[in-house]
Amino acid sequence: MTTLELTVRAVDDGFPGIRTLTLARPDGGMLPSFTPGSHLVIECGSSANAYSLTSDSVAPREYVVSVLECPDGSGGSRWIHHELAVGDSVVARPPRSAFSPILRARRHLLVAAGIGITPMVSHLRSAHRWGREVRLLYLHREGRGVYIDEIKAMTDYMQTFTERRTFLHELSSALADQPFGTHLYVCGPAGFMDDTVALAAGLGWPPSRIHLERFGIDALDPGEPFEVTLTDSGDTFVVDSGVSLLEALHARGHDIPNLCRQGVCGECRIPVAGGEILHRDLFLTDADKAAGDTMMSCVSRACGDRLELAL
Ligand code: FES
Repeated sequence: MTTLELTVRAVDDGFPGIRTLTLARPDGGMLPSFTPGSHLVIECGSSANAYSLTSDSVAPREYVVSVLECPDGSGGSRWIHHELAVGDSVVARPPRSAFSPILRARRHLLVAAGIGITPMVSHLRSAHRWGREVRLLYLHREGRGVYIDEIKAMTDYMQTFTERRTFLHELSSALADQPFGTHLYVCGPAGFMDDTVALAAGLGWPPSRIHLERFGIDALDPGEPFEVTLTDSGDTFVVDSGVSLLEALHARGHDIPNLCRQGVCGECRIPVAGGEILHRDLFLTDADKAAGDTMMSCVSRACGDRLELAL
């Protein structure tokens, strides 16, 4: 898989617990453009983690990501917060998008909480550039709102909240009062996303107009059990709730390469011969997912009760 060698050009610790990195090619050359809502997978020692790109997506010379320090140091955050310094090199996978704006949408309603604001920043840059209709509701803790000045420069349609009750009241009326053809984009902690989706569904929003950016496997539920058949050997087995397909395959002696186990690095991709897939990764593109012939075994599961794998 292609990787990018990047140099840390700047480190900004201006917000407590959030480190913002500016990354560039060592020679200062152009980096690949990316779709708004894309993330960059950075290799952090023995793991790889995805961070939303907040910089300009068109012909960039810099990639900017903001990383929340997790209390348990998970997600590579300890390494990024305490070991990485200006001038260091990092290895990254080219940007991928699983959260891009729907260009035919009449309006874009962005709803974010906490560090979930980061994928919205590139959405807003793109909406500003192309004159797309957008509104943002942003819930954050007092004094912990990031990117607010940059967002204010791009749109007058941002509302920020530090009080959950007020936010939910405004969210309910925003969801109830959108023109047909509005698409909803949600990013934040798992409970916040679940509540927002439940509210939207209760107000009649179809799943096809709701788009979610999850942080990783920690936000995923254990899933339902399902049956797997391997077409080459005919081997059939059950993947229990709380066990990943990757783990089940390893337990049966199938050595599937893997790295992040969070659905971001792309290493554990396997071919699917039949059955409907519940994609839960951040690696495959929307087109990959629609094709339905491949999946990331570390996080994704069957949508129904069985899958056939071309293994
Ligand atoms: S191991 Fe990285 S996507 Fe599955």
